[in-house]
Amino acid sequence: MSQDKTLLDVRGLRTAFHTEAGAWPAVDGVDFTVRRGEIVGLVGESGSGKSVTGFSLIGLIDPPGEVVAGEVIFDGVDLCTQTEEQLRKLRGDRIAMIFQDPLMTLNPVLKVGEQMREAIFTHYPKTTRKQADARCVEALEMVGIPSAATRLDNYPHEFSGGMRQRVAIAIAMLNQPELIIADEPTTALDVTIQGQILYQMQKLCRAHDTALIWITHDLGVVAELADRVAVMYAGRIVETGTVDEVLSAPRHPYTRGLLDSMPSTAEPGQRLHQIDGMAPTLAGREIGCAFRPRCPNAIARCAEVPPENTVEGERSYRCYVPLVQELV
Ligand SMILES: Nc1ncnc2c1ncn2[C@@H]1O[C@H](COP(=O)(O)OP(=O)(O)OP(=O)(O)O)[C@@H](O)[C@H]1O
Ligand SMILES: [Mg+2]
Repeated sequence: MSQDKTLLDVRGLRTAFHTEAGAWPAVDGVDFTVRRGEIVGLVGESGSGKSVTGFSLIGLIDPPGEVVAGEVIFDGVDLCTQTEEQLRKLRGDRIAMIFQDPLMTLNPVLKVGEQMREAIFTHYPKTTRKQADARCVEALEMVGIPSAATRLDNYPHEFSGGMRQRVAIAIAMLNQPELIIADEPTTALDVTIQGQILYQMQKLCRAHDTALIWITHDLGVVAELADRVAVMYAGRIVETGTVDEVLSAPRHPYTRGLLDSMPSTAEPGQRLHQIDGMAPTLAGREIGCAFRPRCPNAIARCAEVPPENTVEGERSYRCYVPLVQELV
């Protein structure tokens, strides 16, 4: 890799679901970058396209869904042009995914140790059993699982929900990935455990220079964990920037709405209150800015053409009438 610190460069990504009513653009022209070792929060309300974005990055979209356009450049290679076999080699090795439900990663009928060893042998077949066991124990210890060596002989159901998610995170970290995509992995956990896992993830990513895309509803989590944030609305990223900039002085009215709907004590685990109005339908998305029907500041032009991305240094946003606020 050159001096360029960009690890992932997503350009014009479009993913559609083919339905009877037409092609639903779940991801509708998404651009963002992730640098090596950087933690990026991908935030937005339910249905905004966060999970579909995460799955699209690593070729996990199944019919009726399809990535119909765009590039996902990972360390110089466009993943959209890779074969399924090439992608399988990357997944679980250089790129790992953590899901909201750890049972999407964990096989209920296999002992945790067997699954972890398998995750190593798949990508590094020359590893000895002894080396693999040592790595498994190390990974479980890293995520704070006590008595790691004996825990290898347990089945997933013998762990609590929080511990199971830690095991899934340990599996993701096993082969020291360069990028982890985490889709709301702590949403189902109680606030204290969520806080511990966030803290540990951040520490691990910093220690190993691992980049992390953390998908969440929760701006409190983003504030605690991330370096940068991308705010998603109706399949588009409507604002990006450093967490400090975006959360203290948002440009996009949707980001403002998300902030205003946060509980006053911005603790992780609190869900967003609803912003007034409905998310757009297919017909409503064909023209203009998708947020216009819910936007307090909309002008005539917003109904005509969707705003292009305006770039201001680290920050970018899609809005004709951006909020002007000083950083506090
Ligand atoms: N298998 C599918 N078939 C049809 N449409 C789908 C499918 N999966 C997702 N979609 C649509 O894609 C859009 C984006 O969904 P996505 O799951 O990415 O949202 P999200 O932002 O992750 O929401 P949540 O916060 O609820 O997880 C939604 O409108 C959803 O209805
Ligand atoms: Mg989702």
